[in-house]
Amino acid sequence: MLPKDVQQQLIAQGRDFMKGYRENDPYMEDFQSDQTLRLPQPPLCKAPMRGEAARTALPMHFGELPMGDFLSLIQKRKSRRIYTDEPITLLQLSFLLWASQGIKGRRGKAYATLRTVPSGGARHEYETYIAVRKVEGLAPGIYHYLPELNAVELLRAAEDPAPEIVESLSGQKWAGKASAVFYWAMDAYRAEWRYGIYAHRVALIDAGHIGQNLTLAAEAMGLGSCAVAAIEHEVCCRMLEIDGEKEFAVYAMPAGTVDPEKDAAAEQDIYRFVREQNL
Ligand SMILES: Cc1cc2nc3c(=O)[nH]c(=O)nc-3n(C[C@H](O)[C@H](O)[C@H](O)COP(=O)(O)O)c2cc1C
Repeated sequence: MLPKDVQQQLIAQGRDFMKGYRENDPYMEDFQSDQTLRLPQPPLCKAPMRGEAARTALPMHFGELPMGDFLSLIQKRKSRRIYTDEPITLLQLSFLLWASQGIKGRRGKAYATLRTVPSGGARHEYETYIAVRKVEGLAPGIYHYLPELNAVELLRAAEDPAPEIVESLSGQKWAGKASAVFYWAMDAYRAEWRYGIYAHRVALIDAGHIGQNLTLAAEAMGLGSCAVAAIEHEVCCRMLEIDGEKEFAVYAMPAGTVDPEKDAAAEQDIYRFVREQNL
C-alpha cells in the first residue's frame, strides 16, 4: 500500500493543481507565455489526418430533429448506460458533434474559433474522435471530426470496434454497446501557447462544458449518454492515432439509442449495491 505520507503529498499536489491563481505563486511574476513572446499561434483546429476520399459531409438541418423543452431536458438528464441495438442517424451524430464542438464563427481572421461551448480564452484545445458502432450511413470504425468542414474523416474501418472501446474505457463493458463513443483529446499547445503552465486546469474545465453539451443534446433527442473519465492512455493513443504527449485523450462519452421504459430495471441494477449494502 502507498505510504500515508506519500498519499498526502500527492493529494496536496492534486489540490494545488485545482486552485486558481494564488498570491504566493512562485512562477507568476516570471512566467511568459509563448503568446506574449510573440511566437506564432498554432492552428485553431488539427488539419485533416486523411485525404478527401475519407471524408463524409455531415447534414446540418437540425431544425428537423424533434426536441423537448429545456425544463424537462434538465429534469430528465441522467447518465444512461444501457443502449439498444438501434442505430442513431447521421443527422443525430452530426448534432451531437456540433452541439459539443461545432464552430459558429470566428474572432478575427484566425485568432479564435467561436463554438457551441465556452472555452478559456476561446482556445478550444480539444479534438474530437468517434468510435462508430451503429450510425446510419457511416461504416463502423474510428473517425476524426473536422468542425471547420462539418465533416468526419474515417481513420480506420473496424468491423466491430466494441472490444477496443471497452479496453480504452478501463474495461467498462456497457460502453461497448453504445452507438458511438466520443473521445476528446487535448491538443495541448493550443492552450499552452496562451496559458503555458496554467493551461491544464482551464482545459479540464473546458472538457466539462463539451461533455455536458453532448449529454444535453443526446437527452434532447431521446438518446442516452454517460461521461467517462476512466480512460486508458496508451490504448486511446493507439486507437485515435495520437502521440500521447502533444495530444492525449482526456475525456470520453459513449452515447446511443435507449429504451428507458424497458431498461429502467437494468439501469437501476447498476447501483443495486447501494440498496443491498444499505448505503
Ligand atoms: C468526470 C466524470 C467522469 C465519470 N466517469 C464515469 C465512468 O468512468 N464510468 C461510469 O459508469 N460513470 C462515470 N461517470 C458518471 C457518474 O457516475 C454519474 O454522473 C453519477 O453517478 C451521477 O449520476 P447521474 O449522471 O445519472 O446524475 C462520470 C461522470 C463524470 C462527470
